[in-house]
Amino acid sequence: MALLAMDEWYDFARQTNWAPTYVDEKDLFPPELSDPFGIDISEWEKFDEPYKVSYRQYVQTQREKDVGAYTVKAALSRSKFFENAAPNWKALMGLHFGAVPFVEFASSSAFARMTRFGRAPGMRNMASFGTLDEIRHAQIQVYFAYEFLKHDRVFDWAHKAPRTDNWIIVSERHTFDDLEHTRDAVSSAIMTNFAFEQAFTNLQFIALSADAARYGDHSFATMLQSIQSDEARHSQIGTPLIVTMLENGKKAEAQQLIDVSFWRCWKQFSALSGVSIDYYTPLEHREYSFKEFMREWVEDQFLRNLKALGIDTPWYWDHFVKDVETFHHAQQLGVYLYRPTEWWRPVAGVSPNEREWLEKKYPGWNDTYGKVWDVIIDNILSGNAEKTIPETAPMLCNMCGLELTGVAGKGWDVKSHYLDYEGRRYHFCSPVERWIFELEPDRYKGHKSIIDRIVDGTVPPGPDGLYEYMDMAPEERGCCGEDYEWAQAYRQRAAE
Ligand SMILES: [Fe+2]
Ligand SMILES: [Fe+2]
Repeated sequence: MALLAMDEWYDFARQTNWAPTYVDEKDLFPPELSDPFGIDISEWEKFDEPYKVSYRQYVQTQREKDVGAYTVKAALSRSKFFENAAPNWKALMGLHFGAVPFVEFASSSAFARMTRFGRAPGMRNMASFGTLDEIRHAQIQVYFAYEFLKHDRVFDWAHKAPRTDNWIIVSERHTFDDLEHTRDAVSSAIMTNFAFEQAFTNLQFIALSADAARYGDHSFATMLQSIQSDEARHSQIGTPLIVTMLENGKKAEAQQLIDVSFWRCWKQFSALSGVSIDYYTPLEHREYSFKEFMREWVEDQFLRNLKALGIDTPWYWDHFVKDVETFHHAQQLGVYLYRPTEWWRPVAGVSPNEREWLEKKYPGWNDTYGKVWDVIIDNILSGNAEKTIPETAPMLCNMCGLELTGVAGKGWDVKSHYLDYEGRRYHFCSPVERWIFELEPDRYKGHKSIIDRIVDGTVPPGPDGLYEYMDMAPEERGCCGEDYEWAQAYRQRAAE
């Protein structure tokens, strides 16, 4: 029997909408889960996914990707790659494997909601594959991390992280619970597929994968690429949804979803990919700076996508462009200083050569962030490394959950963009965070940052209270990944 080609049956086979007779349409697709915008079903049925795939093709391709990635991993684990890896690279992997897999696993639930409650059959079809994708992304990453567990307890966090209240995990959860897990199918798809996956996942999965390949970590590189190829497909759900929103007079709503999600994702990726690319990737294997990747993929490419669709540039764009030059440098300082509160072993990434590179890529770095590092270096060289670990907790932003930072040194610019609301003061790291809060105060007002939890007694008192609260045994608390060796080059320089 002759088989039809996919394009001959695909459109017909995915017409899976019907008129329910046993229950009300509204019971089957409650607006708060399906479509709070009230767009007519005939409009949703025009949804045309740009990337069409059948289940048979899907399974075949995914199988090939898995075989590729697992084969490279098996070869590399025989070559003792991990044992010989630099502390920078171990820090990068420790950060990635603790921070990323659980977000992927949770994403499968967001896609499952789109699969169940999306009104467009094509959307549901693509989202089913997205659900399977995200389960695969969680599994492959937890499995790859498991390989390293015999060498280092850090990798336990690939599995453990989401069940802790570690401050970085809380920051991530707050972000992705907001975008992916507490909204209807259309809103979370626009926020996740369009603003998060199309704008940002390239950074962690393509940029970092290129660095990994140059470093010789082919298993990490192949794993990341295999993940990103799925992201590139399922992120396509976002575009036709935005088209439908625009054609039905919902531009302001679509714009707001994109603006909020873009900003929230920016903060997460700045801390994760910014630190990884500009500080953790071994210098001789870096190709582009984080800023250069941002320019190409986000400032140019994503902005072009927005324009082509008829979406305006987010109102905070000038602020964003400035943030690309600054935010992750400040976060890197905080990450290094507060290392005992992190599950991996952070590296400083500011040896003399690395500093030269930073100054070249970010002119003025030495006069700003470099000034703070000078103090850290002095303390280490004079035998006072313990002074580089602050005794008080940092102020955290009540939106992004990251440290409230700014520009240090000569460019000094640090302030809290606070808001008093219903008798409580909320601190934000930028006017954009405050704007997001003010859009939907009821959504955000109940959340307490780790600092709020210290103040109200939720975190047990005593020197170990915070660590117990974050479920961090003494052996799990981060220390300098290079045991301060990096600072010794400054001693030699001074001697010369
Ligand atoms: Fe994913
Ligand atoms: Fe995804």
